[in-house]
Amino acid sequence: DLVIGTAVAGGGHHLEQDYPDPFTSDKEYRKLLARHFSSVSAENQMKWEYIHPARGEYDFGMADAIVEFAERHGQDVRGHTLFWHSQNPAWLEEGDFTDEELREILHDHITTVVGRYEGRIDQWDVANEIFDSSGELRTEENIWIRELGPGIIADAFRWAHEADPSAELYFNDYGVEDVNAKSDAYYELIRELLADDVPVHGFSAQVHLSTQYGFPGSLEENLQRFDDLGLGTALTEVDVRMRLPESGEPTPEQLEQQADYYEQALSACLGVEGCGSFTIWGFTDKYSWVPVFFEGEGSATIMDGQFTPKPSYFALKSTL
Ligand code: XIL
Repeated sequence: DLVIGTAVAGGGHHLEQDYPDPFTSDKEYRKLLARHFSSVSAENQMKWEYIHPARGEYDFGMADAIVEFAERHGQDVRGHTLFWHSQNPAWLEEGDFTDEELREILHDHITTVVGRYEGRIDQWDVANEIFDSSGELRTEENIWIRELGPGIIADAFRWAHEADPSAELYFNDYGVEDVNAKSDAYYELIRELLADDVPVHGFSAQVHLSTQYGFPGSLEENLQRFDDLGLGTALTEVDVRMRLPESGEPTPEQLEQQADYYEQALSACLGVEGCGSFTIWGFTDKYSWVPVFFEGEGSATIMDGQFTPKPSYFALKSTL
């Protein structure tokens, strides 16, 4: 069973200046979110800096609202994320903790957050972006790996599993669409973890693509090799950005190429038995993170800034 998901713009980060946030305040946005999608992911609100603003203090307001919205509309939820090098609060990154304290902080976080949504979150991105492009662990950047060693990755999965035995636990990253050094690193690590009976259930590729590069042609083959390990697979943050012309408007050719990429990504997922989620990272250009993070680029989603469906929208519809 394949769910079609989207990230929910619950405010925060690239939209910080735009409070109140779209999820709370934009009626048309909410309507489309309810109508078109069978799964949702919080774009920011389950990340450490939002959900764990001070040591031992949790803010579940927006995360709860998103989960409740999903339940009212019969949607799945993907939890994102528990173990990452980015969007961590300053109290954590700049704190002066002993190894024992840090371990306890991570344990408390995972137990509290995963436990709160026990039985209500289908998949958790437990570990996000732990390898660099050459397939090395991000030991310097990732506080947990740096301070506690790589063994902490298995602990994170074990603790998440204890807190919610029904949730499927994922490794998630970008640049792992193709068979390459980075996806090879995941393949090897996951094989080791499975051999040690660590509760790892899935591997997901974010799929942040650009029309300036070719489509990752071995996506299906790559998902299939993880499927062959007995894992679930998912595409979790699909978008296809492009360099915008002077006018700021994409050309018809760009939109066609984008549609082709979206369609190929969905086809790859459809081609793999256990690929269970095709999730896009926002459905409207109105709120997309892309123009803020990639200068001069944009138009990365399937609806424009007025919610008008683009060729990509129709390409996905006709592929399903
Ligand atoms: C992005 C959000 O879309 C932005 O709002 C935020 O400012 C930065 O993070 N990989 C991930 C996501 O795993 O969490 C990122 O989301 C995009 C890249």
